[in-house]
Amino acid sequence: MRKGILLAGGTGSRLYPMTQVVCKQLLPIYDKPMIYYPLVTLMQADIRDILIICTPHDLPLFHALLGDGSHWGLKLQYAEQASPKGLAQALIIAEPFLAGEACALILGDNLFYGQHLAANLQYAWQAQAGATVFGYHVANPNAYGVVEFDGAGKVLSIEEKPQHPRSRYAMPGLYFFDGRAAAFAKTVLPSARGELEIVDVITRYLALGELRVDILGRGTAWLDTGTPDAMAEATQFVAAIEKRQGLKINCPEETAFRSGWINAQQLVELAQPLLKSGYGEYLLGLLDKQVFDEM
Ligand code: TTP
Repeated sequence: MRKGILLAGGTGSRLYPMTQVVCKQLLPIYDKPMIYYPLVTLMQADIRDILIICTPHDLPLFHALLGDGSHWGLKLQYAEQASPKGLAQALIIAEPFLAGEACALILGDNLFYGQHLAANLQYAWQAQAGATVFGYHVANPNAYGVVEFDGAGKVLSIEEKPQHPRSRYAMPGLYFFDGRAAAFAKTVLPSARGELEIVDVITRYLALGELRVDILGRGTAWLDTGTPDAMAEATQFVAAIEKRQGLKINCPEETAFRSGWINAQQLVELAQPLLKSGYGEYLLGLLDKQVFDEM
């Protein structure tokens, strides 16, 4: 089974006081907990064996929300990150889970949505040795990790929050690594801010000439939800589309059902406790709703 890592630790200090007691990935984006969004993105990449990394404080809460994932046709496991020492540390924590296999790593506060996204994800997964990152055109590249690339999708440079960006393409919080990622992470030294930076792992692949970029086109939405404004904007985005289409964005039960990982009876059982909010009714509606995503 394909393996995924979902990073849901961190401090969430840009959202204080909202995140003083509960972590941001459990806060809502419109009608569902934030963590549902990246979880469904992994599911869309056909990844069902997933390690959720979070703080010891939040682990029981994530477990209460998501359990072992079997009700959604998933295999969820949990691991603690005692303190937020950086994204690359997650790869070290995940080493026994990965057992030398390839993985996708997604950040728990990143929201992806778009018609061709599933194709992008499948493409990234099928790449042979090396790593794949994504490029997303943004208005303010200097606020992000910026990726410069040639016409063949080969990465030329990666720069973290550059003053003079060499491209307008930011790197979203979703990475595909081959089986060497944990070993590379172990060689990373703490940065000036005391963290093991994921960009240092990515740079190892770049130095070997084994880093690709796949562009997420303008029809794809990438939002991160780490500040109050970003959360509010993401909520408005999800609400606007869901109300207009009558279709939910990144609903795990729907993805599991449409993928054939759960059957109609299981969907009905999942819907029952959620009827009062309208979420359950939506799930029941899936039983007789035909949706054509591509014609
Ligand atoms: P960030 O938004 O960079 O950091 P943060 O969540 O601690 O927030 P703040 O800057 O407001 O204090 O993290 C991006 C994602 O990665 C988020 O889902 C939390 C997660 N994360 C970890 O799981 N472990 C870590 O060590 C870090 C730094 C982040």
